[in-house]
Amino acid sequence: MENHDSFVLHGNIIYTPDKNKFISLKDGWMVVEKGKIISVSAEKPASAAGLPIKDCKGKLIMPGFADLHLHAPQFIQIGMGMDYKLLDWLDGYTFKEEPKFADPDYARQIYPIFVDEMTACGTTSSAIFATIHKESTDILCDILAQKGVRAYVGKVNMDTNSAPALTEETAKSLQDTEAFIEKWQNHPLVRPIITPRFVPSVTADMMTGLGKLAEKYQVPVQSHLSENPGEIQLVKELFPQDKYYMSVYDRFGLFGQTPTLMAHCIHLSAEEIAIMAGKNVYAVHCPASNLNLTSGLMPLRKLLDAGVKVVMGSDIGGGHTLYMPHEIVRAIEISKIRSIEHPEEKALRLSEAFYLATKAGGEFFGQTGSLETGYSADFLITDVPDFQQGRTVEEQLQYFIYHGTAQDIREVYVNGLSVKN
Ligand code: GUN
Ligand code: FE
Repeated sequence: MENHDSFVLHGNIIYTPDKNKFISLKDGWMVVEKGKIISVSAEKPASAAGLPIKDCKGKLIMPGFADLHLHAPQFIQIGMGMDYKLLDWLDGYTFKEEPKFADPDYARQIYPIFVDEMTACGTTSSAIFATIHKESTDILCDILAQKGVRAYVGKVNMDTNSAPALTEETAKSLQDTEAFIEKWQNHPLVRPIITPRFVPSVTADMMTGLGKLAEKYQVPVQSHLSENPGEIQLVKELFPQDKYYMSVYDRFGLFGQTPTLMAHCIHLSAEEIAIMAGKNVYAVHCPASNLNLTSGLMPLRKLLDAGVKVVMGSDIGGGHTLYMPHEIVRAIEISKIRSIEHPEEKALRLSEAFYLATKAGGEFFGQTGSLETGYSADFLITDVPDFQQGRTVEEQLQYFIYHGTAQDIREVYVNGLSVKN
């Protein structure tokens, strides 16, 4: 079938309309018109008449994944320096890698490989940190737009406590950020997001300017929060007048004044969790990164019970895989480890973890991440081995999440258009 955005799919359909249940349909029907899901049903609907049928019998059809925290320039340092903790890893590796993106030719070489791999892994929506460099960040956006995937992209801001090659002049950084926002704010798929690296890398002047830009252009914000005890101590020393780490972002209009993604959120008091729950702030759980950098075990159940919006991220290169099913499994594993020491924190079920990595994350972009009427047709088609054909659709998904690989993902669609090479 040609790359056509109105068609009917026939196969094993599965998705999570809410976190407590899968809906699955063996040999079900999904009608896509002009890039949107019109219906999902057990029987072939009348609306399917006249549309081309895509036969996916014996395969799984599921929503694409949402990876709401990752660093594109760190794609090439995956696995390196994993014996370090956060601050030493940043100094020892990351702050030596990211200056390379001052050269746009380097970005042209690396970023297409990154985008291809992310898409092949089934990620259809993402929130990406680029680097401080405006030209390379534009190049990353161009590649994502050309590919046709959904993304928020941030030109990173850093004007203090950083390697000299990554320390910007504050006014210039703000000018570049504003120009970047103006260039991308109306793109249908690739949008700007304000991206102070984390509190230790930005001055009060920078945060003041970024808060104003968020308000002026009504663009979202992303950063890091309470990932590592050394980082939290540093924030206390830099901003002693603020009660909590999150109070600093909040004071400058960078904590839910526009939709905000905060990666990690591991070491939070009950009071901080309650504050977060009352704001338009999403905690991005990055389980692989949290283990690799020995950052800690995020109390995910506590955040969910308090009503915090939680989504998932790969956080490469703190994380080591762009393949979100493995982050889903790691999130479940970490929650099980926590439940051993804290029996009141019930372990995450697969439907919950799948929901966080699809519909919960997709919500940041609008209606994507589920296979419900009105949602964007952002979905994957995956192989099911012959020896699993006799199982229920939910069991086939369980097998895919735990044992599948990117090679099992045959096709990836965004807005009803194929985006996988
Ligand atoms: N905090 C500030 N910068 C970074 C980064 O690049 N990765 C992670 N994991 N945490 C950070
Ligand atoms: Fe990160």
